[in-house]
Amino acid sequence: MPTPLDRKPTMIGEWWQVFAIYQVYPRSFQDSNHDGTGDLQGIISRLAHFIELGVGTIWLSPVFTSPMADFGYDISDYRGIDPLFGTMHDFHELLAACHSAGLKVLLDLVPNHTSAQHPWFLESRMALNNPKRDWFLWRDPSPGGGPPNNWISQFGGSGWEYDVKTGQYYYHTFLKEQPDLNWHNPEVREAIHDVMRFWLEHGVDGFRADAIWYLLKDEQFRNNPQNPNFRPGEPPQQALIPLYTADHPDIHAIIRGMRRVVDEFPKRVLLGEIYLPIERIMAYYGRDLDGTHFPFNFSLLETKWEARVIARLISEYEAALPRGGWPNWVLGNHDRPRIATRVGPDQARIAAMLLLTLRGTPTIYYGDEIGLVNVPIEPSQVQDPFEKNVPGLGLGRDGVRTPMQWDATANAGFTSAQPWLPVSDDYETRNVGCQRDDPATIYNLYRRLIATRRQRLSLSIGCYRPIAAAGDLLLFVRQHEDERTLVALNFGSEPLAASFAQPLQGQILMSTFTDRASEAVNGEVSLRPHEGLMIDVAIGSEIPPSTI
Ligand code: FRU
Repeated sequence: MPTPLDRKPTMIGEWWQVFAIYQVYPRSFQDSNHDGTGDLQGIISRLAHFIELGVGTIWLSPVFTSPMADFGYDISDYRGIDPLFGTMHDFHELLAACHSAGLKVLLDLVPNHTSAQHPWFLESRMALNNPKRDWFLWRDPSPGGGPPNNWISQFGGSGWEYDVKTGQYYYHTFLKEQPDLNWHNPEVREAIHDVMRFWLEHGVDGFRADAIWYLLKDEQFRNNPQNPNFRPGEPPQQALIPLYTADHPDIHAIIRGMRRVVDEFPKRVLLGEIYLPIERIMAYYGRDLDGTHFPFNFSLLETKWEARVIARLISEYEAALPRGGWPNWVLGNHDRPRIATRVGPDQARIAAMLLLTLRGTPTIYYGDEIGLVNVPIEPSQVQDPFEKNVPGLGLGRDGVRTPMQWDATANAGFTSAQPWLPVSDDYETRNVGCQRDDPATIYNLYRRLIATRRQRLSLSIGCYRPIAAAGDLLLFVRQHEDERTLVALNFGSEPLAASFAQPLQGQILMSTFTDRASEAVNGEVSLRPHEGLMIDVAIGSEIPPSTI
């Protein structure tokens, strides 16, 4: 089997900069033991998919021992593999198979909270003077009774849960089954560092750290201010401004500590999940680039799908990056609507070209490569605790976590049992097997995009230069030495032409459709509705400002 490295003999840039990341949601990738839920052996059996697609890094959402109140984001043993997913032996087998295929493996580190079933919490809740009491956030009731302050949970309701045995409340950013660790306590920091070392010693290539902008809370437990822009019917977690529960000024010292642990091992990475405005995520690189290798850039998840808006967003992001800070882009994840649903099937192809031509590490969410959509979930099928706590607002995440669609057999080849979430109705026509055979499919578009990115240093490590954004047209250039790739994207359903002050000379490398490769460009660039093009600009040809 050719490895990603074989296909790119001279690699410039670190692996985590050059390889596309692929997020696997293990419950939904491939079932191997007929229980309707994906598992590690299932992932092993699908390894060829990563190679065929061309991604170089896989990130596994949590596979650790868990009561599954939040589907693995509630961990009761950081060092164990949940039996639902398999055994430690299976994990080693997966890691070894990935490494021998040239793939890197990132684990999901969940440092903000444990499961309420974690032995640390079980001890902590036993008595006020338990040595682990201060490992979590315990407070007396407020003087008039009731929760200590107004902090709320991200999943609806108060963030405080009363514990009868000791007469105090504990804080949970997410579910009451997910008590928050107290990161002000050095013992907690050491304990999580040891967990990190445990997996790094096992050979994992790094971590995606969950919810790390929440790690520290105000030591005075001050009330969060009301959000003046909040309107009834909006997600309830937006009712307050999380001034005292998120993005604490001391958080960077904590993240620096985690980074030092990762740096004890060669060539490992720490990536951070941080949902904050662009200018605030930048601090998570660390003052001396000693924080996360990069904080995920989620700006494409929420943007209006318009050429000018996206051009501005890219420029703002590029401008805000710290010197030497490596960028990255994300189109989807296990918490957010599917890109194909958000922008429609035609624009999902434009989104793919955008993701794979921007400067920075691209992250692909499983299933997006075949254009999976948000799957409608009947009330009786709801699994997500967020939807159960806050029903009816469309906040549920089950629809973006449905089984991967491999072929046209029952349950899309995901399982021979009843799948834990329904398979999308379109699985007989939307699956890897049938898309593989048709060059026009989004799956083959992703493959070509990833392959082109690997072949061209301008795309993998080149600089970014905006050219124009007007109406539905977005034009930018990526350049490394004298290799220049012009990217032209049509965000609309009308044909477009970009003309230039002096005629542009070059050759089309690929279209988001299947034709036009090798077509000469001499003058203007024409785009069909919903078409994206990559153009190799001839050496010596200027890229003059577009006059569109
Ligand atoms: C993203 C997330 C969620 C999970 C939560 C708590 O914020 O990864 O999927 O429910 O963190 O761990």
